[in-house]
Amino acid sequence: MRAVDLIVKKRNGYEMTREEIFFFLRGFSEGTIPDYQVSAWAMAVLLKGMSERETCDLTEAMIESGEQLDLSGVVPFAVDKHSTGGVGDKTTLVVLPIVTANGVPVGKMSGKGLSFTGGTLDKMESFPGYRVDLTKDEFLKQLKEIGIVLSGQTEDLAPADGKLYALRDVTGTVPSTPLIAASVMSKKIAAGAQGIVLDVKVGLGAFMKTIDEATELAERMIDIGTRFGNKVTVLISDMNQPLGNAVGNILEVREAIDTLMGGGPEDFREHSLVVAAHMLVLAGRSTDVDEAKAMCARSLEDGSGLEKFRTLIRAHGGDVQYLDNPDMFPTASYVETVDSWESGFISEVHAREIGLGAMTLGAGRESKGDPIDHSVGIVVHKKVGQIVEKSEALFTIHSNDEQSLKNAIERTTKAFKFSKSPVDELPLFYRTILS
Ligand code: URA
Repeated sequence: MRAVDLIVKKRNGYEMTREEIFFFLRGFSEGTIPDYQVSAWAMAVLLKGMSERETCDLTEAMIESGEQLDLSGVVPFAVDKHSTGGVGDKTTLVVLPIVTANGVPVGKMSGKGLSFTGGTLDKMESFPGYRVDLTKDEFLKQLKEIGIVLSGQTEDLAPADGKLYALRDVTGTVPSTPLIAASVMSKKIAAGAQGIVLDVKVGLGAFMKTIDEATELAERMIDIGTRFGNKVTVLISDMNQPLGNAVGNILEVREAIDTLMGGGPEDFREHSLVVAAHMLVLAGRSTDVDEAKAMCARSLEDGSGLEKFRTLIRAHGGDVQYLDNPDMFPTASYVETVDSWESGFISEVHAREIGLGAMTLGAGRESKGDPIDHSVGIVVHKKVGQIVEKSEALFTIHSNDEQSLKNAIERTTKAFKFSKSPVDELPLFYRTILS
């Protein structure tokens, strides 16, 4: 078999056999098929697609490129969540504590942020000392002992996915439905998940621009999950505007803490409750999403979720004083609030523009490995559908240098659009698809 023949086959729109997919992935992992051929193949896949069978074979080949975690002796049922990436998406910080507070242990592996989407690990690293590099044994021990872990993906889980994602990121081949589906599901299955809640984002700040595209991705991932014997729930959620108000690591952590204390922005609280409720249902803790949501809401009101968050931070070596006194977190040197220049209804808060604005302030990274600044970011004070009066606060920029502050103000200003007539609020969720 020759790699070039397989590239040509895919380029011409033909289906690859299981053997061909495994040959290609193995060659890539072992370095016998070079990056330039894999890049050409990824572009052919992006343009010509893959059948469901090919996507499942690709997922399996990625899982088999590394080790698989077996959580069966550690938790009664391994439930996990994954978001396809958004702006202001700090959901995991609230969901994990409230799910575990309801008696369902969760060991989650997460990623660092890239481009305009933030990463959960970056947010957790806002707590000085928080370790995201637990070994496999540490991960399993902590999950068994305290029932909550939030760490980085160990390098031996689906390594072919990590390598392929890095290539896709620099060759314009990220937004391919089969490649995203195989990437997400290979990581989750390799990490031992039996039940997975997938939060598929759609809109201006997401890979998927339409509900139909997001639904196609959802169905692909459900198909993969079903073939691997997993229970999968997909929530298709809005990412036209940021989730909650804060974008940027410490700002988002503080918003998550407020939410765990029973406050926080209404949209973010509701989003977190729905994701958590579906996890409880998958884990068999409840048979009804509304009942599960009420259980999760109680964990926000009675402080049990906050206590689990404290347990998590302490177990990872993080300084819990910051949880009790968030004013200890460092703040940016320039904090400037911009007032609205119009009166009316907000019709757009462009998620991607806000995410890129936060990234250029230093909250995110352009390339893997870039350092980030935890204290900077953007807080939006108005969301789509809300009324704003001229001179009312619209957004606040947190920056550590003057030029970036100016650039971010300019960019964020363009992210807002207004309407003289009433505008509907954006829905939080568009569809729920169960396996
Ligand atoms: N998230 C992933 O984990 N993989 C992708 O390919 C895209 C988003």
